[in-house]
Formats: sequence, structure tokens, C-alpha cells
Amino acid sequence: MMGFLLVLAFLLLFLCTILQKWNDLRYRKKGMPPGTMGWPVFGETTEFLKQGPSFMKNRRSRYGNLFKTHILGCPTVVCMDPELNRYILLNEGKGLVPGYPQSMLDILGRWNIAAVTGPAHKALRSSLLGLISPTSIRDHLLSKINDHISSFLSGWNGQVVDIQERTKKMWLLSVLKLIAGVEEGSLSEALESEIYKLVIGTLSLPLKFPGTNYYRGFQARKKIISLLKKVIKERRKVPFCSSSDMLDSLLDVDSQNEEKLSDEQTIDTILTLIYSGFETVSTTSMMAVKYLHDHPNVLDELRKEHLEIRKNKLPEDKITWNDYKSMEFTRAVVCETLRLATVVNGVLRKTTKDAELKGFLIPKGWRIYVYTREMNYDPFTYPEPSSFHPWRWMNKNLECHQFFFGFGAGGRLCPGKELGILMISTFLHYFVTRYRWEEVEGEKLLKFPRVEAPNGLHIRISD
Ligand code: HEM
Repeated sequence: MMGFLLVLAFLLLFLCTILQKWNDLRYRKKGMPPGTMGWPVFGETTEFLKQGPSFMKNRRSRYGNLFKTHILGCPTVVCMDPELNRYILLNEGKGLVPGYPQSMLDILGRWNIAAVTGPAHKALRSSLLGLISPTSIRDHLLSKINDHISSFLSGWNGQVVDIQERTKKMWLLSVLKLIAGVEEGSLSEALESEIYKLVIGTLSLPLKFPGTNYYRGFQARKKIISLLKKVIKERRKVPFCSSSDMLDSLLDVDSQNEEKLSDEQTIDTILTLIYSGFETVSTTSMMAVKYLHDHPNVLDELRKEHLEIRKNKLPEDKITWNDYKSMEFTRAVVCETLRLATVVNGVLRKTTKDAELKGFLIPKGWRIYVYTREMNYDPFTYPEPSSFHPWRWMNKNLECHQFFFGFGAGGRLCPGKELGILMISTFLHYFVTRYRWEEVEGEKLLKFPRVEAPNGLHIRISD
């Protein structure tokens, strides 16, 4: 019996080795970067998800800064070389286009910004920039954001809240208000629950049958489209009056001699806006609360900045653009939070033709994972990289550092950067001037593949 088991184990081991070798050979081409492709179909996805950043570090120490693997259903080249990452982000025109997972593209629609390239991307990006540029923020959005966040944060005294859930809700309600003037109520609730399903669907395997997250995401997309179509129909009945929200501007594109957007394009643009800030703004806000709680000296400095702003104001007075511009330390806290928590691990690109990077061949259709996480912990750029030290961002122009990719770079640099920072800063303004808080013990935080608190991040609030 023992002998039989030994032979069986040997045969299994042999079979595994043969399968993995066969998979390596299948993808082998002369001149490609080193690396292994793992199992047929699954590749090295399990190891990647289980080990996270150590998977990358181990591969890097074995193969160098550029290596091939097979993760999340695609043959992929991982790039951890700062210069090369910058080159990739700055050279979309050389066939290095966004390469986000199929599930994301399917669910967000064909007019989603990540799905378009060339002139279509340029047009879409410029219409988005028109909606959320610093000038639009100053002239139209700031006052609405102020009102919404101030009232959203009222009445929290004495409560235990899940700050992860609240910051997601804050983003969704704010952005729905900015886009189409949707107030909290039955429509916002209906949209909210569908948007959560849609977001989860975009991060799942593209298996379209009932019960899967992908399927639910698709169903959510259909419901959101039908809700938004009704909003658009109602809006068209009212004669246009001085662009009061983003939807008015989107429906009125032709007045600036630009082509009018179809309803499908308008809806996909709205989805792009909602989706792009969903994880980034809410996660950065949550992690800022976490770091401020753990670093009372930083919280004191931040509170000082905001109490100074409130000093000459009545409780109902809003934050002005100049107030926002004066929040230097707050901006440093936001950047340091983005860096240390690594809200963005990297971005995905794909090759539209055979490409050459540092002398290696990257075949057409392969993914490139522009992995920027490690650059956030580079001790030369950020001395004592594992400490939360917002002062490092003050007066040092680090935000424009050539290897800070928290907001991407090149033609895809985040157009919502200022809006995102303003939302988080406004949230922090009202949060730290109104409340104190204690963490409820024992909350777990995951940093990879996404930053999240799987059971929520609960805090006890007092004033
Ligand atoms: C802390 C907040 C935010 C962070 C860290 C962030 C980060 C990023 C990053 C890294 C990219 C580059 C993606 C790539 O190269 O593939 C990006 C792109 C983008 N972001 Fe943000 N983002 C934030 C907030 C926002 C907000 C509030 C909006 C809009 C409401 C927004 C809209 C977009 C859009 C539309 C793109 C795609 C740009 C293009 O493809 O041309 N982001 N963002």
C-alpha cells in the first residue's frame, strides 16, 4: 500500500512538472523577459493573490525588474523598474494602451474612458476635464460639496460608525448630487445598491451565469441605465437653465460646437465619474482616519490648520477656495496616506503590437502590470519609508516627483486629482473640527490586492 501511494505521489509530481513546463513552452518566444507561467489557464494567480507584494519581491529577486507571469487570466509582464514604468505611462501612442480586465470593460460600457484610445479618448477626456477642472470646482462644485459633506457629517456624536461604509456612502451621495442633483432618497438608494453590485462585478471573473458577481454586475448596469435614462428624460423636459450640474453640461455639449453625446455615451461618462472616485476617494479617507488615530501628533497639527480656518467663521459658513488652497498640511496628509497605504498598487496596460522594452520582446496582446507600489517605499525618495510622516511633503514638491504615480502619469494622469483631494480635505475639515474618535478594537485591515477592512473599520465618535 505504502509503495502504491509513493508511486502515485511520484506520478502526480511528474504530471504537475510536465503541465507547468508545457505552459512555459506555450508562451516561450525568443527575447522575452524571464519568468514562469504557472498552470495552464490559472497561471500563477493563486500565488499572486495569496502572497501579494511578496510574490512580486520574490520574482524580482529571481528575475529582475521585468519578468513574465500569468495572472488574472492573462499572460502578463510585470514591470517594477521606475524609469521603464514612466516610459510606459508616457507612451500610449507606441501601442501601450490601458489593459483593464474584460469584466471591467464589459460592465462599465464601451464608452468608458479605459475602453477608448486615440481621438475618442482625447474627446472624452476633455469633456470630463471640463466638468471637474479646478475652475469648475471653484465656480460650481465646491459650494455643493461643502454643503453635502457638512450635513453628511452632522449628528455622529455618540455613535459607533463603520468609517469604511460611511466614506463610500459619502462619495456616492456627493457625486450623485454633483452629477444630476440627486438628493438622498429613494432614487439615491436604488442607485447606491446597484452601484455596489456593479463595482464588485468589475473586479470579478467574467463568468456570465446567474449567481456570479459578474452576472450581478451586468444586471446592476442594466438597472442603473434604466434609472439614469429616466433622469435624462425628465431633464430634457425642462428648458436649459445656466449649467447647474454636470448632467446639464453633458446634455448641452453641442452648444460649444462640439458633437452632442448620445444617451449611451452620456450614461457611460456618468458611470466613469462615479466609478473612478469610488474606491480611491473613500479608501484614502478611511485610511487617513486610521493613520490620524494612530498618530496623535499629526492629528494635532491637522486640527490646528482647520481650527485656524474656522476661527473667523460662523458655524454655518462654508469653506472657500482660498481656505482650500491654504490647507497645505491637509494636502500633505492626503499624499502621505496615498503613499503609505498604497491605495493604488499600479495600473494595467496592454500591447496592441509587439513591443520592445529594455531589449526584451513583449508580444502583441500581452498585459503589462505597471507595478508602482515599491516606489512608494523607496528610502531615497522617502527616508524612513514605513513611517507616517506628512511633513515630508511640505514645500518639497514631492507631489510632482517624477516617480510618484499615485495619480498615474502621462496622457492618463488622473483628471479627478483635484476633486478627489478636495473631497477628502473637506471631509477631514468637518471631521476633525467636530469630533474626536476611538477605534473599536480588533479590526482587520488588508492591504492587497485592495486596501480594505473586510469586516469594516468601526470607530466610536464623541464631540
Ligand atoms: C484619491 C483619489 C484618486 C486617486 C488616487 C486616483 C488615481 C488615479 C490613477 C492612478 C489613474 C491612472 C489610471 C491609468 O493610468 O490607467 C486615474 C485615472 C482616472 N481618474 Fe482618478 N484617482 C482619484 C480620484 C478620482 C476622481 C475623484 C475622479 C473623478 C470623479 C477620477 C477620475 C479618473 C478618470 C476619469 C481617470 C482616467 C483618465 C484617462 O484614462 O484619461 N479620479 N486615477
